Amino acid sequence: MTRLVPGFLWGAATAPHQVEGNNLNSDWWQRELHTPGMERSGDAVDSYHRYAEDMRLLADAGLTSYRFGIEWARIEPIPGQISRAALAHYSRMIDTAFQLGLTPVVTLHHFTSPRWFAEDGGWLGPKAIERFQAYVKTAAAILGDVEWVCTMNEPNMLAIMVWMSDPERSAAVRKQMLTPTVADDRFPILPDPEPEVGLRLAEAHHAAAEILRRETDAKVGWTVANQAFTATVGNEDKLREVRYIKEDLYLEAARGDDFIGVQSYSSQAVDGNGVVPHPPAPDNTLTGAAYRPDALGIALRHAWEATGGVPILVTENGIATADDTRRIAYTSEALGHLFKAVDDGIDVRGYLHWSALDNFEWGHWKPTFGLIAVDRETFERKPKPSLAWLGAVARRGRL
Ligand code: BGC
Repeated sequence: MTRLVPGFLWGAATAPHQVEGNNLNSDWWQRELHTPGMERSGDAVDSYHRYAEDMRLLADAGLTSYRFGIEWARIEPIPGQISRAALAHYSRMIDTAFQLGLTPVVTLHHFTSPRWFAEDGGWLGPKAIERFQAYVKTAAAILGDVEWVCTMNEPNMLAIMVWMSDPERSAAVRKQMLTPTVADDRFPILPDPEPEVGLRLAEAHHAAAEILRRETDAKVGWTVANQAFTATVGNEDKLREVRYIKEDLYLEAARGDDFIGVQSYSSQAVDGNGVVPHPPAPDNTLTGAAYRPDALGIALRHAWEATGGVPILVTENGIATADDTRRIAYTSEALGHLFKAVDDGIDVRGYLHWSALDNFEWGHWKPTFGLIAVDRETFERKPKPSLAWLGAVARRGRL
């Protein structure tokens, strides 16, 4: 039997903008208002007010951890002006998690920034690092007992969002591509994240990590979209080239961190021309990705190698499907690959499923990833069988 580390985290994840609702001061709220064809987050699933109920459902099912985020746009709605009430809100969330026996894993930036930050040049603006540092320092004040902090979520996807919001490109691109997380027939391959943006985000991450190490006892890392790329015959060099730009730059920046957050959903081949689009298949998921539960094993092995052996927390893994039996089948197989990786000596500290709740998938409501369904009119939570199933796996510590 696979020996998991004592205290292995079994949990589920969300991000503030996707579940809280009315994130009015964020850049994404503006994007939703001004992008034709994009669905809006609106009230989302009102987790801003119902977080205690959400956490209780996870804890009652048997899970031991909850990954959620702190929203910069709420904490600092105007440059330099801190909302004490917002800070107190997130502090209560952290306390609630502990009271319910859930280890909080806190993300400080999950794709969204304050509107003012984006309008003033965003991540490429001259004051970007300084501003992020000031926010992280403010947030650190409530992170006293938190053991796991992710500075930034999927900088390799965030870099594509930065590219999409470049006014030089926006008119053409916005029409074609709503979000990098959902495959689009008109845009079958994601653009490359620009290394200039990636390096800036790495600088921000390192600056944030330094503050967190000074001001908290937390383990600090960032999370990367692990795309489990594989080479078609004879294309190993091309694989390395593509993977560096899309992923390894970000994994290598995690060397020296306390952990790396691995986020895995599917796998894609690389041929002589680059990434091969997901082949159309009846079992593709609701985001258009291939059904590849084996991706997690590939992702864990690659992240371990590319970071030079940084301990891993699976901060996201899941499937967009309306069929919950499919979610259980996918997750069961993915966990089998996780256990094999642990058997092979890879240091995995936990598994956090994406997502706790069906939520706002960046411009789309249709792709449902949740262990819990939500009625978007009444906000009633309806746990799916997959929640009880994952809770039982967590209690046993095996499949
Ligand atoms: C992101 C989540 C997103 C999920 C599913 C990741 O890219 O961190 O915010 O909802 O994948 O697409």
